[in-house]
Amino acid sequence: MIMERNMLCWCGSGKKYKKCHMTMDERLLALASEGHITPPREIIKTAEQIEGIRKSAKLNTAVLDHVAKHICEGMSTAQIDKLVYEYTTSHGGIPAPLGYEGFPKSVCTSLNNEVCHGIPDEDIILKDGDIINVDVSTILDGYFSDASRMFTVGKTSARAERLIRVTKECVELGLTEAKPWNHLGDIAYAINSHAQANGYSVVEDIGGHGIGLEFHEEPFVSYVTPKGSEMVLVPGMIFTIEPMINEGSPDFFIDEENGWTVYTEDDGLSAQIEYMVLITEDGAEILSK
Ligand code: MF3
Ligand code: CO
Repeated sequence: MIMERNMLCWCGSGKKYKKCHMTMDERLLALASEGHITPPREIIKTAEQIEGIRKSAKLNTAVLDHVAKHICEGMSTAQIDKLVYEYTTSHGGIPAPLGYEGFPKSVCTSLNNEVCHGIPDEDIILKDGDIINVDVSTILDGYFSDASRMFTVGKTSARAERLIRVTKECVELGLTEAKPWNHLGDIAYAINSHAQANGYSVVEDIGGHGIGLEFHEEPFVSYVTPKGSEMVLVPGMIFTIEPMINEGSPDFFIDEENGWTVYTEDDGLSAQIEYMVLITEDGAEILSK
């Protein structure tokens, strides 16, 4: 829709366009004409949507806290799934993974050499020294949220601890680049260069995503793209920062039997931490982590 300066803004703020998104739209138009990738209007959330998404994200974080409280050695990943399902549904939410493109469980649990999308199973038992990513995604009142944490079981090796520490540093460094008028590639560069400086690699082809009104929205978020590349960031965008960091090669393969679980090609360890962030006027707000 073409907006006149005195019309009500498309974002639903009730303000005149000239007092609301007009300046931003003009700047985006100029950037697009210079060849930059700019966000389509549909992925810029309104204040009302942000409120709903924030509530969903709050529940998502509470689910992760619930897992953190109960996860322990000797537990099966199916028990983690049960914790997630019961906590989420008893608080009015729906686990987003359940039935998503045929995914059979409520949460992804990825151990050691598993990169992501591990399927909870009663035969997978957490044992001393394991590292595990628990990736929780929630639907509340139609709004989607998503975040993941790494957990260690018993006494973990220094090698595994270092991988997890650097992965967390990668996400935090990426976060400092998440601000208006930066590019997604700035986040990717911060992450990839820190991973490489520590001798690790960042998984390509699997990445983050926009989120909020759907589980996976535009943009696809790569963590290996160059500084200054990919989509320009503006306030109201919501997406995930969730790099998968491998000890060895970034190559992976997908379980042929279940069609989901992603493993490192070289059998090395992989870690992932996911924050869900909202771009604000002057930076980013973590909605769930
Ligand atoms: N949180 C995961 C992601 O954003 C969910 C993958 S889809 C699922 O990539 F079905 F496996 F849950
Ligand atoms: Co995600």
